[in-house]
Amino acid sequence: MHHFHHRHGTLHAEDVPLTDVAARVGTPTWVYSRATLERHFRVMDEAFGQHPHTVCFAVKANPSLGVLALLGALGAGADVVSGGELFRALRAGIPADRVVYSGVGKTERELTEALRAGIRSFHVESEGELEILDALARGMGTRAPVSLRVNPDIDPATHPYISTGLRTNKFGVPLARAAALYDRMARLPGLRIHGVASHIGSQITQLGPIAEAAARLVALARALRSAGHPVTEVDFGGGLGIAYRDEVPPSPADYARAILDAVGDSGLHVVVEPGRVIAGNAGVLLGRVLYVKQAEARTFLVTDVGMNDSIRPALYGAHHGVVPVAEPAPGAAQATVDVVGPVCESADFQARDRTLPLMHPGDLFCVMGEGAYGASMSSQYNSRPRAAEVLVDGGTLHVIRTRESYEDLVRHESVATLPPPAGGRS
Ligand code: LLP
Repeated sequence: MHHFHHRHGTLHAEDVPLTDVAARVGTPTWVYSRATLERHFRVMDEAFGQHPHTVCFAVKANPSLGVLALLGALGAGADVVSGGELFRALRAGIPADRVVYSGVGKTERELTEALRAGIRSFHVESEGELEILDALARGMGTRAPVSLRVNPDIDPATHPYISTGLRTNKFGVPLARAAALYDRMARLPGLRIHGVASHIGSQITQLGPIAEAAARLVALARALRSAGHPVTEVDFGGGLGIAYRDEVPPSPADYARAILDAVGDSGLHVVVEPGRVIAGNAGVLLGRVLYVKQAEARTFLVTDVGMNDSIRPALYGAHHGVVPVAEPAPGAAQATVDVVGPVCESADFQARDRTLPLMHPGDLFCVMGEGAYGASMSSQYNSRPRAAEVLVDGGTLHVIRTRESYEDLVRHESVATLPPPAGGRS
């Protein structure tokens, strides 16, 4: 469900025609819908009903302050994976006691910052990290709340780059090692056992792996409690998929039911870390066709949306819908095209071999499903300033990130003062 629809012949974000966005902010621009973000958050939150739970938005999906602040105001916590994401979550007003911190490579600086902030839980991913965290916390005269991130060795049946819960992945510690590590944690005075955590992958479209992982986690939590460890919370990670094309992922209600069935009467507080399911279809990337290039074997729509802006098609072969802003007349002519960008790589495409309504130079279009892992994965490759981001609320447009300038490209750079090269011209 989202709020991007054609109305009176023009694609709108809520009540704002995307032609207005292009006129005011230019292209490319990410356009987010407040109503869609709120609805997606609420549906997920309400799916867990009265069961004690916290929905910690995965900041990596969309770290814009404007988006985080909006979700935080609805009661969302944050799942962060770096000091930078922690900084953003706190800056956006998300209380530290709703922040959980995952990641295999936390530095001492990052751990210290999170200890200072007083976050809800450290999702520790290795024995080495346990030791460092213990030492840092003792040094600060505090105890770090810890949930071990376990790797349940479950195939989430998704793209290999976004599978994280297999034993061949770098994430978490093997389930079989968990009990021994909790015994160890209990003896470390800088740590306080808090819960159990896991995240098996992303864009998961089947309930089976989610239910199986949940069952294993809850069984572990119960076993740990029987062994005397004060486990009060289970974090099931994120990963619920969305429809980019014709996928039929489980609904948040089915997802929550699978988790709550596993939790049963254990009394465990539930944490989930959804990113994509909240933000993915709440954003589009608005671009413009620059040229229509008829090559021998193909027709290329050359646009101002580059792989630096939206890398998912190049990186994962991901499918994103491409929709013209001007609504095509019924039965209008179509063409099979490659929608490409200006970046100097043949992987610079948003869609390939796609049959779309005819578009011409100057026409606006949207890449759909860009609210998660769109702007957050963008770069300045080819020295392309990062695009703007706007949040639409009904009929009002708020710029939440201005387009970068050329000066922004070189803001942190300087020319080294070097002795002149030998034999060089002065
Ligand atoms: N929690 C942890 C610990 C994670 O690593 C992730 C995503 C999430 C939660 C949120 O997962 P979600 O609900 O969004 O599926 N760049 C890839 C996605 C990478 C996801 C990495 N971890 C993409 O564009 O598909």
